[in-house]
Amino acid sequence: MSEPGKTKFQVDLRRHLRETGVEENLIHLICEIAEASKYIIHSIRTGELGVAGTSNLYGEQQLALDVLADRILRKRLDHSGVVANMMSEEMDQIIPVSPDWEGKYSVAFDPLDGSSLVDVNLAVGTIVAIFPGYNLMRPGREQAAAMYILYGPRTTLVYSVGDGVFEFGMNNLMEYTLLREHITLKPKGSLYSPGGVRNQYTPGVESYVSSLEKRGVKLRYSGGFVPDINQVLLKGEGIFLYPHLKNLPRGKLRLLFELSPMAYLIEQAGGAASDGKQPILDLMPNDIHERAPVFIGCKEDVLLAEKMLRTHEGGPAAQPEKTRTVKKSA
Ligand code: F6P
Ligand code: MN
Repeated sequence: MSEPGKTKFQVDLRRHLRETGVEENLIHLICEIAEASKYIIHSIRTGELGVAGTSNLYGEQQLALDVLADRILRKRLDHSGVVANMMSEEMDQIIPVSPDWEGKYSVAFDPLDGSSLVDVNLAVGTIVAIFPGYNLMRPGREQAAAMYILYGPRTTLVYSVGDGVFEFGMNNLMEYTLLREHITLKPKGSLYSPGGVRNQYTPGVESYVSSLEKRGVKLRYSGGFVPDINQVLLKGEGIFLYPHLKNLPRGKLRLLFELSPMAYLIEQAGGAASDGKQPILDLMPNDIHERAPVFIGCKEDVLLAEKMLRTHEGGPAAQPEKTRTVKKSA
């Protein structure tokens, strides 16, 4: 990773995408999402913490921030001219945008991940998976790009189009400028971020987490998937897990718009992401809200999780019944 050199690191997002040869419609799409995030961060910073369906001081109907973030993104994508289909955490089906899909992209997004952390003023984010063409129901490996925006003390945007991972920061003019390029992970880390209630861990997960602790790995869990993954990526080390649990055999996180994009970014940084048996990016979703267990971060730490699960339980306690691995999508 190179040190910030003044001229180079003042490059804004659009110029960087142009200079790195990203396809024009994809540039447009990524920049539209970046634009939408400016309205989302504004709502988070200034909005009342409304609950959907309630009124504010002035008797105006309020939207919960996740619903508002969803509307902001939906509108932007709808009018972008480069989107074929879209779906989000807030939708119960895929929304067609344009039947004329050639040269366009389909987008799956979590508009405000970790929204339950907003009222306690912790970091939240937007996660986006971008597929070429019209088909969203395909393995994450076929993404054209993946990105997230982290609304923390600073607002940052991390993306990959398959040529490394780049981080941008929002400056005082609300422009995203390049902070770090070609972010990479060490083979093995010294921090872990474990989701799920410990007394619900299966024997394999319990042994794995105990082995990390014996190694002296430090616990760092914020409860927000975006900041927790951002920590691993930008510290260059660590592992995040939200495993299969006795009471949640398919884990908690959603494949299409949470796990696939994060797995894409982590693999691009030289790390790995697994459901305990196989790479997250090879899982074929059968349902738009399908969940999967996840072990994601430094490669050796993920491989160790797979190995210990094999030893103690022959893989994740319960594979999503319908999830199957595929070589190529239809
Ligand atoms: O979207 C799900 C989410 O809020 C993630 O951001 C986070 O990683 C996870 O849930 C936290 O779950 P828990 O509250 O069980 O720790
Ligand atoms: Mn989420």
